[in-house]
Amino acid sequence: MAILHIVVLALVSTISARSIALKTRQSPAILPAGSALLSIQASGNGCPHDTANIVLDNASQTAVITNLTEFRAKIGPDGRRDATKNCAFHASVQAPQGYQFTLLQSVYAGYARLDAGVGGRFAASYFLSSNASDVVGRTIFLEGKSFLEGSTFEIDLEHGTPRDYHKWSNCGQSDIANINNRISLVAEAEPIESGELIANAAPNQTVSVLWRQCTQMA
Ligand SMILES: *[C@@H]1O[C@H](CO)[C@@H](O)[C@H](O)[C@H]1NC(C)=O
Ligand SMILES: *[C@@H]1O[C@H](CO)[C@@H](O)[C@H](O)[C@H]1NC(C)=O
Ligand SMILES: *[C@@H]1O[C@H](CO)[C@@H](O)[C@H](O)[C@H]1NC(C)=O
Ligand SMILES: *[C@@H]1O[C@H](CO)[C@@H](O)[C@H](O)[C@H]1NC(C)=O
Repeated sequence: MAILHIVVLALVSTISARSIALKTRQSPAILPAGSALLSIQASGNGCPHDTANIVLDNASQTAVITNLTEFRAKIGPDGRRDATKNCAFHASVQAPQGYQFTLLQSVYAGYARLDAGVGGRFAASYFLSSNASDVVGRTIFLEGKSFLEGSTFEIDLEHGTPRDYHKWSNCGQSDIANINNRISLVAEAEPIESGELIANAAPNQTVSVLWRQCTQMA
């Protein structure tokens, strides 16, 4: 019962200023023979060309992503067109028989300055290119009143292990696994108040492949 309660809470949560997430390190990954992270790409208006430099480490099936300079949203009387930014990662993964995979991403650190009538949102959704209509995800809300003065925040979606909102690949099937990260600001009323949300303060973002033996749940 206790575990279920935590999972349900985790699906939609609100964080306040300076909330510190657990930073549990992921235990050493098990990489099955015949598995590989073949490539990874970024797309979206929060990851335009020249930003989001990706370095793939084949041995650990991890990609290090730097220079996420444009993953920031703004709202205000003059800046509504930047109210939503997304940055998606697309990982082409080779799967051996008997195993399935998902993607893990590291902690997002950021800064927000929001008027009381503005809400911030960080959403991550996961899907496989073999079935792009089967999307799972998680959303975290930032309440304007907690960020009136401007504050840093950290978002650790994974706590080192994948959660119920993750999408696992089909057993033994190579696929492209996708994470779409989206930040947005919403003004609750007219006149539009102002806000700024930056989700790129972690020096290096990582996305890594996590494997498990196939389960009945697949
Ligand atoms: C980082 O992104 C900026 C655009 O915001 C770009 O001008 C710069 O060349 C990039 N730096 C590196 C090292 O890629
Ligand atoms: C990447 O790793 C896979 C599996 O370990 C291996 O088969 C492949 O040759 C490696 N590729 C490179 C470019 O090192
Ligand atoms: C895609 O996922 C949905 C939701 O889980 C499922 O109903 C549908 O059958 C899947 N389609 C394919 C082609 O696997
Ligand atoms: C971030 O990545 C760059 C380029 O891969 C590397 O040189 C640097 O040491 C990394 N920084 C941290 C804090 O991991």
